[in-house]
Amino acid sequence: MNPLAQQLNETLQKESPNVYAMLSNLGKAIYFPKEGILSQSAEAKSKATKFNATIGIATEGGQPMHLKVIQDTLSAYNPKDIYEYAPPGGKPELRSAWRAKMIKENPSLTSGGFGNPVVTNALTHGLSIVADLFADKGDSVVIPNKNWENYELTFGVRREANIVEYPLYNEDMRFNSAGLREALLAQKDKGKAIVILNFPNNPTGYTPGQQEGDEIVAAIRDAADAGVNIVAVTDDAYFGLFFENSLQESLFSRLAEVHPRVLAVKVDGATKEEYVWGFRVGFITYASNSEATLAALEQKTLGIIRSTISSGPHPSQTFVLHALQSPLFEEQKAEKYDIMKRRANEVKSLLDSGRYGDVWGYYPFNSGYFMCLKLSNITAEAVRTHLLNEYGIGTIALGETDLRVAFSCIEEENLEELFDTIYKAVTDLTAS
Ligand SMILES: Cc1ncc(COP(=O)(O)O)c(C=O)c1O
Repeated sequence: MNPLAQQLNETLQKESPNVYAMLSNLGKAIYFPKEGILSQSAEAKSKATKFNATIGIATEGGQPMHLKVIQDTLSAYNPKDIYEYAPPGGKPELRSAWRAKMIKENPSLTSGGFGNPVVTNALTHGLSIVADLFADKGDSVVIPNKNWENYELTFGVRREANIVEYPLYNEDMRFNSAGLREALLAQKDKGKAIVILNFPNNPTGYTPGQQEGDEIVAAIRDAADAGVNIVAVTDDAYFGLFFENSLQESLFSRLAEVHPRVLAVKVDGATKEEYVWGFRVGFITYASNSEATLAALEQKTLGIIRSTISSGPHPSQTFVLHALQSPLFEEQKAEKYDIMKRRANEVKSLLDSGRYGDVWGYYPFNSGYFMCLKLSNITAEAVRTHLLNEYGIGTIALGETDLRVAFSCIEEENLEELFDTIYKAVTDLTAS
């Protein structure tokens, strides 16, 4: 093993032995080279006052070389904020700005106890870093049965982890923390589990309330008490889009200090929150009271980034930073939030109006981009294809009965027609 990796491992063993035990084989082996091209370049950046012939970019006239056809469309930005490589961990100013935003939006987070967010190539990449660092073949990844399908590829296919599902809702159609607890306690023999908490949930649009939040934290604490080391990941992709009286903070705040056997990891980003899906700007943040542990985890994360994408895109980091620093940011975000909330409310009032009889029910939703219908007498796939072929309407069929509708991309005034047409499609099929 490389001595640098060994050093990081020794730090973790000493400071946070449970966290060390959570690492995958790759997580143990990975490190960020201290004496390679990047560090020599960084040193030269501050000291090479005459000529800097280090890193693999090209310069001209004291700035990054670039083509006019590209710069002409980006003229609001300084070439140094666009063309140079961003550091593997991301632009330092962006990292601090995101950290400040996190503290502001999650008031129970104090400024200590968690690290500086590392920039990722959006949330998928953050999740795959978690998978690389912590998931080995056969390790259990505990997720609800209504989940974002990509977890299967990221953890199951790439890392050969074992996906363990529990029903998202209990009989009262609230978050099934008893199911989560049971799934976690079932990992006692393995002594380890990765749990992914995604609220607002994709595909249902559900975020638990305060009491359910307490129950989730208690379930994780109890499993940790029973000896299970838990990597508790909050996938906060749709953070902030809370339209009702649910939790308004990420559970990361609560999980950060819940138990020495729990490592809280926050995966979030600009993608959905700031409506910049194609920018690919996300973050991964670890919680620990040990600065040395945070530093070691950051080094290992940088090692994963360096060995996969080397560094994330610089222009979009600059764009997001610019937005976060703008005095207009909050106001413009609030405007979009209102639009999304009005759409969610409109969907709910249509569904509660009684006009659709009992052809479907719907899963409780209160947040995010989506809601899911539960069809009564017909398969979701039949309705999906009929809607598409006969009415030119696209929806997502999930499993036998569930039809996911993204109200995020339907104007409020069109929602009535949308749901009336889905209803029509269902009655067409059930009548025939
Ligand atoms: C729950 C959830 N997590 C993560 C992602 C991925 O986000 P990104 O596009 O930033 O990789 C999505 C995207 O659909 C999602 O729904």
